[in-house]
Amino acid sequence: MTSPETSPSFGLFGLGTMGSALALNIVDNGFELHVANRSAARVDDFITEAGALANKLTGHNSLVAMAQAMPNPRVIILMVPAGAAVDASIADLKPHLQPGDVVIDAGNADFNETRRRTAEMEQAGLAFLGMGVSGGEDGARNGPSIMVGGTQSVWQGVRPLVDAIAAKFDGAPCADRLGTDGAGHFVKTVHNGIEYADMQVIAETYGLMRRGKSMDPAAIGQVFDRWNTGPLKSYLVEITGAVLGATDSATNAPLVDVIVDAAGQKGTGRWTVIEALKLGVAASTIEAAVGARVWSADRDGRAVGEALFAPTRGDVDLSEADIEQAMLAARIIGHSQGFDLLTAASAQFDWALDMARISEIWRAGCIIRSALLDDIATAFRAGAPEGKLAFAPAMVDQLNATIPALRRLVGAAITAGHPVPVLSNALQWFDGMTQARGSADVIQGQRDYFGRHGFDRVDGLPGRHGPWAD
Ligand code: 6PG
Repeated sequence: MTSPETSPSFGLFGLGTMGSALALNIVDNGFELHVANRSAARVDDFITEAGALANKLTGHNSLVAMAQAMPNPRVIILMVPAGAAVDASIADLKPHLQPGDVVIDAGNADFNETRRRTAEMEQAGLAFLGMGVSGGEDGARNGPSIMVGGTQSVWQGVRPLVDAIAAKFDGAPCADRLGTDGAGHFVKTVHNGIEYADMQVIAETYGLMRRGKSMDPAAIGQVFDRWNTGPLKSYLVEITGAVLGATDSATNAPLVDVIVDAAGQKGTGRWTVIEALKLGVAASTIEAAVGARVWSADRDGRAVGEALFAPTRGDVDLSEADIEQAMLAARIIGHSQGFDLLTAASAQFDWALDMARISEIWRAGCIIRSALLDDIATAFRAGAPEGKLAFAPAMVDQLNATIPALRRLVGAAITAGHPVPVLSNALQWFDGMTQARGSADVIQGQRDYFGRHGFDRVDGLPGRHGPWAD
């Protein structure tokens, strides 16, 4: 293991968009860095592009050549696509590594794979960290939010570099070790799940204003600009204002009107939902957001559906303040579901995740950074009943103030025929989770009827079956 006293040498493999930006961030913070890339030609170009920072970079023709040239102990950061490329890089490196060396996977890995890789590396006496990095290209270059999983001693060895390159909130690095093995990549995955829900809520409110209030994109962009000065202040709201305000240079049309309405996805949202299902956690807002991207990608299907049913979509009578408040309520619930998932995974994998700390390192650098996350960090520090963010006193106040608007919005959207899958799921979660006695008594009766599954009684008396059991 590297210790804080031993200064390791650093290498980075994978000079794609994110890798290049992270490499420049590292050297900009005063570290020397070895670099290599699968296609070696990119290395020279990258060093040339680095300009004044080039003298801190040493290029190599391959990952193995880089590892062999680096002084011990070595810290090698992999910035390659998730999956097979990570395994292939580790297989190439392994024969050349020694105890004390650290390999960091800084891509968007599936945390299950990070757990496997950590175990395999540790069995070979080597150290491995799974590091989630959020903030897109700009974040990687100027300060991302960094979520690390791995053993404490290994983390301490790389911490000076990670803290230096991370975003800062009130001067403190938005980076931390959150737990062992896959903890960092799991937290990054859930970050992305929340990101999907946040983005979809924004898209839904845009759709309502566009088609339910006949506003043009620039005017809607100005609404987002205004919202970005209030409780919805966030990176995603800010960039939405910029996207909606942009004009297409070829046609002079609003840029958003020339963009095909089919959302891509690389998989982290889907991973979030898969893990939620495996852990028995309801992440319905995130699931709805993934589903909405799937519908969006089915353009042919939507065209056929519109032609077949020729639906009419009515106007919605909603104020700007209503939509703002509804969005805030849905965002609180989306985040709360994400944190529920983190709570369940923490128990399952023994990570002891600190929800307040996670909120803190999401306050700057990452894609979901927002004013709300500052409130969430404070709310978790103050304590949340049942561990549920939505039940923390500060969130209860905000939900009490905003749920009526969410109810008005969902009612109006559904009546007028506008799709609001995440906003409506958020409201459904709220209505379900604020009902001490619900309707699952009937489900238990049905299960007992057809399968003798039994039920608990509210009065605690014995009698775990209905009369049909006799
Ligand atoms: C981030 C982003 C980043 C990337 C997503 C996009 O936190 O910096 O989440 O990881 O932009 O992978 O994901 P989709 O392609 O699935 O939208």
